Amino acid sequence: MTVTVLIGAQWGDEGKGKLVDMLAERADLVVRYQGGNNAGHTIVREGETFAFHLIPSGVLHAGTICALGNGVVIDPQVLRREVDGLHERGIDFEGRLRISPQAHLIMPYHVALDEAREIAAIASERTGHAGAPAGVQSKDSAAIGTTRRGIGPCYADKTARRGVRVEDIFNEELLRDRITAALSETNVLLEHYGHEGFSVGAVLDQVRAHADFFRPFIADIGVLIERVRERGGEVLLEGAQGTLLDIDHGTYPYVTSSSPVAGGAATGTGIGPTRIERVIGVAKVYATRVGAGPFPTELFDSVGDQLVERGGEFGTTTGRRRRCGWIDFMALRRAAQVNGLTELAVTKLDVLSGFEQVGFCDSYELDGEAITEWPPLTGDLQRCVPVVEMLPGWLKDVASARSLDELPEEARSFLRLIEERVGVPVTFVGTGQDRTAVIDLGAGIA
Ligand code: IMP
Repeated sequence: MTVTVLIGAQWGDEGKGKLVDMLAERADLVVRYQGGNNAGHTIVREGETFAFHLIPSGVLHAGTICALGNGVVIDPQVLRREVDGLHERGIDFEGRLRISPQAHLIMPYHVALDEAREIAAIASERTGHAGAPAGVQSKDSAAIGTTRRGIGPCYADKTARRGVRVEDIFNEELLRDRITAALSETNVLLEHYGHEGFSVGAVLDQVRAHADFFRPFIADIGVLIERVRERGGEVLLEGAQGTLLDIDHGTYPYVTSSSPVAGGAATGTGIGPTRIERVIGVAKVYATRVGAGPFPTELFDSVGDQLVERGGEFGTTTGRRRRCGWIDFMALRRAAQVNGLTELAVTKLDVLSGFEQVGFCDSYELDGEAITEWPPLTGDLQRCVPVVEMLPGWLKDVASARSLDELPEEARSFLRLIEERVGVPVTFVGTGQDRTAVIDLGAGIA
């Protein structure tokens, strides 16, 4: 009986879906606690590729219940598409989905506003108008590079107490009031960006039509977790995005609008933090970031291009090319601290096969001084120069390895270095795309 949180230890896209899929085999309940369809988890099963944006990755296991906690934001159309898509592929999902009535709904005007803001910010960069958020240096981009799925505007309405929650769609009068209140402000903003406003009636009709779809799935997710625990069951809380995209602990303002960190799993599901016993951070053996914002170890040369190509580093959700660089222990130590990591799962070891040398960063230089801890002032990160060190690489393909002994010595040394410098046991190593391509190390390497 364990409650485990699995989080991204970098900037998202760490390969969490595969780990969740693997751990879900033993889990009775898998719960998402934040984010929405900005996420994208890819799982390859017997040569078949599954991409999920909203539904927890545990869905592929027949006995696992999947839940969306109160911290998640749900685009009803996307959820319905995913549920229909699973049915079409013969995955019996009936009776296995639970949704918190307190989860917020992404409305069509949230998507429109997210897009309008990004387009305006990009245009202001092109024309040289100062569009950057206050306090951001001029070299920063005004556009965040969001996924344009309405995530930020939806969370903004939630915090401003004018959001629409799942439970509101069962009360037409309340729903109308909420939409009216939200549109009275949002339409002004949309018009400011040259976008046509939305009519209350049209949005109301669109949202109301989902009431019957949601009704059978409604559940108190915090209570559900407690029940499963009491029965001795396994619960997996599945984080989306990553630590450095966290609204508080990430590289603000180049972050998402929710709390992907382990603490977010308690508020985003309705359980107390003492219930969480295991916190697994997932990190690639290199680093990637999609969208704008600081990324100290980013590579701008052909090595970066090779990582993109070999790692297939294009977004599951938006198809955007990801920025690539060497693994950054400064960032991973930060993730270990913020999340209280008890384990580290490293992924995509196979992508480094074939590089003559592999790099890592263990310290930054800030204004001529060496620092070994994440700078307390977010703005300082832009001036940090990574100190990159190189180690001998390996040529052998590692995809078939299922134990450390089957790895080349150079790869083993690299993994030992990760464990030692991050200070957290490495318990899983992903060696290839397939769901079976994993080395399970139990208690760690050392
Ligand atoms: P938003 O979450 O769509 O508002 O986007 C905010 C930032 O988070 C942008 O830089 C996105 O590229 C990034 N982001 C959002 N979701 C993911 C994800 O699942 N993986 C990686 N980056 C993400």
